[in-house]
Amino acid sequence: MRTVHITASTNYDVLIGGGLIDRSGELSAKVVKPCKCMLVADDTVDELYGDRVQISFTYAGFDVRRFAFPAGEGQKNLDTLSDLLEAMAENRLTRTDVVVALGGGVTGDMAGFAAAVYARGIRFIQIPTTLLAAVDSSVGGKTAVDLKAGKNLAGAFHQPALVITDTDVIRELPAEQLACGAAEVVKYGVLYDEAFFARLENGDWHGDMDAVIEKCVQLKRDVVAGDEFDTGARAYLNLGHTFGHAIEQCSGLSVTHGQGVAIGMLMAACAAGCPDDMVLRLAKCLRANGLKTRCEYPADRLTAAALSDKKRAGGSITLVLPEAIGKCCLKKIPVDDLRGCFDAALRRQEVLGL
Ligand code: GLY
Repeated sequence: MRTVHITASTNYDVLIGGGLIDRSGELSAKVVKPCKCMLVADDTVDELYGDRVQISFTYAGFDVRRFAFPAGEGQKNLDTLSDLLEAMAENRLTRTDVVVALGGGVTGDMAGFAAAVYARGIRFIQIPTTLLAAVDSSVGGKTAVDLKAGKNLAGAFHQPALVITDTDVIRELPAEQLACGAAEVVKYGVLYDEAFFARLENGDWHGDMDAVIEKCVQLKRDVVAGDEFDTGARAYLNLGHTFGHAIEQCSGLSVTHGQGVAIGMLMAACAAGCPDDMVLRLAKCLRANGLKTRCEYPADRLTAAALSDKKRAGGSITLVLPEAIGKCCLKKIPVDDLRGCFDAALRRQEVLGL
């Protein structure tokens, strides 16, 4: 088992290794004295792993209650959050009890937010079951639900007490789910580490899943240690997200988040004027990792989608732009210039045959 220690307002470990789901209770009991716990999962994950986690926690002395909700991105809303909080109250959880988030980003974000606000804050444990959640959303304490006006608009910073990533579970994911997470893995290489990017380039790293997840978590650890509350360098983690969110919106969410981020990274590299060989290298890497590279939507629709997010601050938008593999910069542009960026990226996509 590998351990990455996170230093933030609450310090905690991220445990990474095979077979950890069945040890999740014993591992949690080392950090949280056995108490009542609310095990939260969507109905798909609950069916797959809920019983195993419940047995492990019960065996370790926890009194397990369960909350399952319908699977889907659209469920990360105030209604599901309200149902979860009511279930916690009905089960008489107190401030000394714990929430266990078993699942991907939707579950982790929502259960984490419930833990942040219930009884003014109780502890929670993340057990990510997607690659994306393992390398990104389960670490760093961002919790939220979506509002009608935009994604993640109601939320809180609330660090987990422990993160347990069972890499056997991640390895069993369907190829499309793994590809979705691979976009975030490649993102770390583009942002911070050319040698790590090179390791990912042929898409043949799944045999090294534990080491790859550990590396991503180490890179995220450093970002969170420097900017836990997202007032500076944490913004780099949004590489590909402005373009990617616009693509996701234009597709009516049929394009997954990871797929959107993959095309978004490439568009950012195109718009930033990166050399052809670098853009083509990134495109090849994304394809080798099961991801598409072509944006199918016109600039006017992408611009409208990007600007519809009410969270955007004032008249400017900050883009994360690659300069080289392993090095990016932040660039604040007037929102009126965004259409020009999309145009430039799409023209370059045509020229390079992406
Ligand atoms: N997922 C981006 C962040 O944690 O800041």
